Amino acid sequence: MAGRPFIVAIDGPAGAGKSTAARRVASRLGFAMVDTGAIYRTVALAATRRGIAFEDDAALGALLPELEIHFAPSPGGGQRVLLGADDVSVEIRTPPMSIGASDVSARPVVRAGLLGLQRRLACAPENRGAVLEGRDIGTVVFPDADVKFFLTASAEERARRRHAELAAKGDASTYDEVLADQLRRDKNDSERAIAPLRPAEDARVVDTSGVPLEAVVDALVRAVEERLQAEGRGGA
Ligand code: DC
Repeated sequence: MAGRPFIVAIDGPAGAGKSTAARRVASRLGFAMVDTGAIYRTVALAATRRGIAFEDDAALGALLPELEIHFAPSPGGGQRVLLGADDVSVEIRTPPMSIGASDVSARPVVRAGLLGLQRRLACAPENRGAVLEGRDIGTVVFPDADVKFFLTASAEERARRRHAELAAKGDASTYDEVLADQLRRDKNDSERAIAPLRPAEDARVVDTSGVPLEAVVDALVRAVEERLQAEGRGGA
């Protein structure tokens, strides 16, 4: 697509290291970062606050146009997620919102309703490039992305990472609970009828089991830089 920013798609299951890798890759390249999971999480939170069931397509469809979801830089680095004026960054990361996001994301009305927002955030005029992180970026949101990665890792390693992350935030979930939640989410996300989690045919599949994060980031940045050079868009 001529004229749009350079698009990097990073898809994969929960706990594969996508968020941290995407954030670092975006920062090294000076690209914008769009955490699409945060958008689904914010929809789940907004639905919960209004007492809307995650299967209520009519109510979800009416809710979406009312939601103003934004990202803003966080003073400590990274991004804050705003719902209107309300900073929901912490609340959307709780285990109920993880499952809630997975549930609402299976509803076609929600997926269709969020496509425009994801594309607009990536293609903002000030962006030279954008890294989008999610489940269907390379298959649905930007099937013509310039580079596509599919990050994965064993279920146990992904649960270990997520458990450590939650424990650091003071969440009392046990490893077994985290693993069970994750397996349920993996099943939900991979078996849903619409935009199921799967690698795009032209995605580079990267297994991050046992690989230090910095090595993953280096490999991704190298692959993007090669592509930028090949497209004559490097060196900005
Ligand atoms: O990446 P995450 O764990 O924050 O995502 C939360 C849920 O949102 C995930 O279980 C599936 C859903 N999701 C999706 O269906 N499509 C995306 N592009 C991103 C997330």
